[in-house]
Amino acid sequence: MKRDLVTLRDLSREEILHLVSLARRLKADVRVRRPHPWLHGRTLAMIFEKPSLRTRVTFETGMYQLGGGAIYLAPSDIQLGTREPVADIAANLSRWVNLIVARTFSHDSVVELARNSTVPVINGLSDLYHPCQVLADVMTLTEIRGAVYGLKVAFVGDGNNMVHSWLLAAAKLGFDFCLACPKGYEPDPDIVAEVMAAAPGRITITDDVMEATRGADVLYTDVWTSMGQEEEADRRRKVFARYQINAEVVANADKDVIVMHCLPAHRGEEITAEVIDCPRSVILQQAENRLHIQKAIMAWIEGAEEARLVNA
Ligand code: CP
Ligand code: NVA
Repeated sequence: MKRDLVTLRDLSREEILHLVSLARRLKADVRVRRPHPWLHGRTLAMIFEKPSLRTRVTFETGMYQLGGGAIYLAPSDIQLGTREPVADIAANLSRWVNLIVARTFSHDSVVELARNSTVPVINGLSDLYHPCQVLADVMTLTEIRGAVYGLKVAFVGDGNNMVHSWLLAAAKLGFDFCLACPKGYEPDPDIVAEVMAAAPGRITITDDVMEATRGADVLYTDVWTSMGQEEEADRRRKVFARYQINAEVVANADKDVIVMHCLPAHRGEEITAEVIDCPRSVILQQAENRLHIQKAIMAWIEGAEEARLVNA
């Protein structure tokens, strides 16, 4: 049966750790130019309703490095749900390609694609989740700290798609997640309830930046205005003004704190230029790891024998 990666609910803890381990092996092998043509002859369709630098380039590059090919489908090419229904697009693509990655406005579109395709569908960001980014971030923290278990991750900003995926990861992987967000910008209450039930005591949500970040091992932030919310940008700039990672917030965290951002970043808004460019920041390591974790995801989800055997 095919597997999808629509949210982190689709992966067990063991599967996440396996993907991180496989990605680290693939990363090491890229550095010594050892090729892994595990997906030779296979094709990835890349549906994008929103802009992207990292997700597009890393999926496309990753597929080429695995010996396959990728087709980028811009919003104007297929006009998801407008030119024809999402279900019909999924059924057609399933007859030609082996894998689909989709970046959509509505999360329902990714769900609909997965439900109606016979090939695996990977969520490349929706309004509700960004699982590939958080898997790359877990890989990055594993490289630096050996594991994420027991860490305190503090997120400052909007209760958005990144936060939802972090919440699911915290429940699966056993770290503390503390969110500081303005009142009215909390994450989806159903997701919060699900995660608090699964990981009692590990999740904190407050409007107090200092409370959330005190002693944190990791400081994370994301844009105040996500793609699709552009008309709210002026209002959000006022509401979120205090929700910034700056030198004072870094000083409030652990002395060895790791500063993370999924990018793109708006220096001077959610994070100061001084902090994002400081030695504690690992933003480029995170971005680099998108390539390796997504290669691991694609090889594994496609059932490439070599991807399954690692750790066996
Ligand atoms: N972090 C991330 O997904 O970047 P892009 O929007 O550039 O793909
Ligand atoms: N929350 C951001 C993440 C970008 C990678 C957005 O959805 O635009």
